[in-house]
Amino acid sequence: MCGIVGVVGGMPASPLLLDGLRRLEYRGYDSAGIATLVNGHIERRRAEGKLANLAAILAQSPLPGVTGIGHTRWATHGAPTETNAHPHGTARVAVVHNGIIENHIDLRAELEAAGQIFSTETDTETIAQLLDLLLAEGATPVEAARAAFARLEGAYALAIIFSGHPELMIGAQRGAPLAVGYGETEMYLGSDALALAPLTQEIAYLEDGDWVVVSRAGAEFFDRDGAAITRVKKRTHLTGAAIGKGNFRHFMEKEMHEQPVVIGDLLHRMVDATTRLPALPILPFHPQTISRITISACGSGYYAGLVGKFWLEAYARICVEADVASEFRYRAPPMPDGGIGLLLSQSGETADTLAALRYMRAQNQAIVSIVNVAESSIARASDAILDTIAGPEVSVASTKAFTAQLTVLAVFTLAMARARGSMAEADIARLTASLLEIPAKAAEILAHEAAIQRLAIRIAEARDVLYLGRGGCYPIALEGALKLKEISYIHAEGYAAGEMKHGPIALIDKSVPVIAICPSGPLFEKTASNLQEAAARGGQIIVISDAEGAGKLGGIATETIILPAIDAFAAPILYAIPVQMLAYHVAMLKGTDVDQPRNLAKSVTVE
Ligand code: G6P
Repeated sequence: MCGIVGVVGGMPASPLLLDGLRRLEYRGYDSAGIATLVNGHIERRRAEGKLANLAAILAQSPLPGVTGIGHTRWATHGAPTETNAHPHGTARVAVVHNGIIENHIDLRAELEAAGQIFSTETDTETIAQLLDLLLAEGATPVEAARAAFARLEGAYALAIIFSGHPELMIGAQRGAPLAVGYGETEMYLGSDALALAPLTQEIAYLEDGDWVVVSRAGAEFFDRDGAAITRVKKRTHLTGAAIGKGNFRHFMEKEMHEQPVVIGDLLHRMVDATTRLPALPILPFHPQTISRITISACGSGYYAGLVGKFWLEAYARICVEADVASEFRYRAPPMPDGGIGLLLSQSGETADTLAALRYMRAQNQAIVSIVNVAESSIARASDAILDTIAGPEVSVASTKAFTAQLTVLAVFTLAMARARGSMAEADIARLTASLLEIPAKAAEILAHEAAIQRLAIRIAEARDVLYLGRGGCYPIALEGALKLKEISYIHAEGYAAGEMKHGPIALIDKSVPVIAICPSGPLFEKTASNLQEAAARGGQIIVISDAEGAGKLGGIATETIILPAIDAFAAPILYAIPVQMLAYHVAMLKGTDVDQPRNLAKSVTVE
């Protein structure tokens, strides 16, 4: 799973490739590499670790040439070493790949038997060796590519260059996205339009099964049967301008602090200024006749989806199912007529979420996605999108995109409730008003981080941490645990407060902090009882609540974080912020790489 970029043209390739890779590092940062054609021969530079290492190597040992390919890797097959770094190839051909070749073991055995000598542990090298063999047998690059694509199983986006063909690059897409960019004197391939945006804004997207022959003169597209096809060139609105950290130490800190503005902008767009009631764009279904909404996503998007399920069931009275995309797509669940598929994705590129979408489409569901990148693969495959307009999120741990997803889901819920008549208009107005209070209250929380910093000192010493919540705040407990794991590497579990007595309570002793996400509201007393059970067993109870709730739990809490009071409906959005801040400050104390934590990637484009 990785980012790929390629260029054929009239300008030095290396700086263009490096620039494109910078915007693709969100797809992985285990290693990076580029290959160019120098006097017709393939030359490579590769480096283990982040792109900065490759840039340093290129500064010392520049790579000339105007045609080349580049790659930033999130390791799947083979350790994240320089040897396993892309591009892979031979003297005849070089390949960069995003995806997984599932029949690589069989292909490798076959190619080794035919005399090909492998030098890496990667699945990708089978593509290079297969092409090499076909070229050695006399095939032209186009013939070799056509024959090789027919042998590959699994998912791939590819960019390939050939020794002795300085104006040729071949690309292919199956299950992983690829875009063609049209420059003035050069042509590009890239995993997404963002990678290419500052280089060119004229983009054509490949569709699944397509492959493309790119030269300086343009691009010729073919379908999986080899028939010539047309893919429309569009103008992208992305700029790809470099994004800075401003005065913040990390992107995560900056993005947490952007939340009041992001949420405020979304509410401004989604709430009618005159009536102060939800106003949604036209959606591809009638709210009154929805049979079911099926939510699917990965990571934080899934947890946002779980809050959405709670809201849509309780307030809009719609049957909702929610599942992580990697499970959903393989469960073969039956889906009713008149159902809606609702996908959530910051990047819009997550492979499992895209596959879940395709499954839902095949089951005749209307597809709505909540995305942060309006030109992403998931957005383009949807009938309608609800854009989170959070701006680029760079930190791997999602913050502003998560609360933006929640905000969209909250307004969507109230709009559905209104259209279905499941709530009185006055109640909808009251809950909409509670959402409108969030930006100011979020800013207040972000401005008072001393209590969270103090709590972080205690949490940084823990080996295990439990987060508990109920109702709409149960997914916030899951999200809190995920954030802590991701960036501080401390083991944490999120649990439904009432379920704790069925297992996790056995873990509780004075060394295990129990963080309760418990705003005042209908479920408060129930959570309070569960906290009493934990306190009775010596647990360190840390309460995140409003003044009223904190007052009630003062007797058992070892620490308390007091948030501004808010209606229980809107609380999940507000309570997401202190759990983000806590993870951030613990990570700061631990000295981890906050924005690019080990082993992770911002967008996971393999299943
Ligand atoms: C990765 C990221 C998470 C994100 C998840 C889903 O795991 O680290 O922050 O929630 O992917 O990504 P998506 O772009 O689909 O929201």
